[in-house]
Amino acid sequence: MLLQVRRVSNAYITKAYFAKKQSQTVLDGVDLDMPPGEILGLVGESGCGKTTLGRCILGLIGYEGSISIDGLPQDRKRRRELARKVQAVFQDPVSALNPAKRVGWLMEEPLRIHRIGTKQERIKKVDETLELIGLDGSYKNRRTPELSGGQRQRICIGSALMLEPKLIIADEAISSLDVSVGAQILNLFQDLHRRLGLGLLFISHNLRVVYHLCDRIAVMYRGQIVEIGGAEAVYSAPAHPYTRLLLDSAPEIPASPPEDWGCAFASRCAFKTKACKKPPELTAIERSETPHLARCWNYFPLG
Ligand SMILES: Nc1ncnc2c1ncn2[C@@H]1O[C@H](COP(=O)(O)OP(=O)(O)O)[C@@H](O)[C@H]1O
Ligand SMILES: [Mg+2]
Repeated sequence: MLLQVRRVSNAYITKAYFAKKQSQTVLDGVDLDMPPGEILGLVGESGCGKTTLGRCILGLIGYEGSISIDGLPQDRKRRRELARKVQAVFQDPVSALNPAKRVGWLMEEPLRIHRIGTKQERIKKVDETLELIGLDGSYKNRRTPELSGGQRQRICIGSALMLEPKLIIADEAISSLDVSVGAQILNLFQDLHRRLGLGLLFISHNLRVVYHLCDRIAVMYRGQIVEIGGAEAVYSAPAHPYTRLLLDSAPEIPASPPEDWGCAFASRCAFKTKACKKPPELTAIERSETPHLARCWNYFPLG
């Protein structure tokens, strides 16, 4: 497996002055597997825990449970080794790049840090990578403030590719770009996936955006995976009421007063029944080549 996430939980401790420490659960027993070279979309509304899961996988924050990447158990002491397996591309390409440095210097940096190759070899690698991200060699001598948002995001992707990782976590990587530029970056990811066999965990709050790119889609709600399956199945025949809500253009169903529901989504669900007082497990809902699972007692198609 390229990525194995097992029962990963995470909570933030918040403490206001004079108040008791409070622990807010952000990830609640997440299981996730990715075979090599897969493009998996991770979607859900803002605050559901997508970035936190990405940061756990990258080894940037602690968690309970276990994660392994390309056979290497995640361990914060192994950050250097892990950097050669997994890299990230984030939303904001402006703040990710030092404006004072030239593009060539920025892209070479991961190789310098990891003491890989001679100066000449590193420059050759930069040239090859520029070609991969669709920019010509002259970009090496430019500084990032001269570049457009799309070009800057290409540089971030190029930097992430320098150590030849097996997995890239793209966290809202096109969310700050114009629609047409975002579409070009999506095409670039698809192209890189084809040419390099790159695995991609594509995080987005927008299911419609990721659907065309992804092999599978996982839907997250309040730190739990509530549905996972083939992109086509999840998009065209969503099983979980929350996935339907994400796809609806209709206004959101407001949360009703808290009650003792076992299902985290019940207070917003139009289809809840007494059964939902018990916490639902992720359950296989149909036999298809790609398993399709939903965490719902009353999943669609009903019955
Ligand atoms: N450093 C932090 N300290 C306390 N709470 C945090 C911190 N980072 C994120 N959170 C909380 O964790 C939850 C999930 O956040 P996040 O993973 O960023 O969600 P998403 O990426 O899906 O929008 C949110 O409720 C957020 O307020
Ligand atoms: Mg986020």
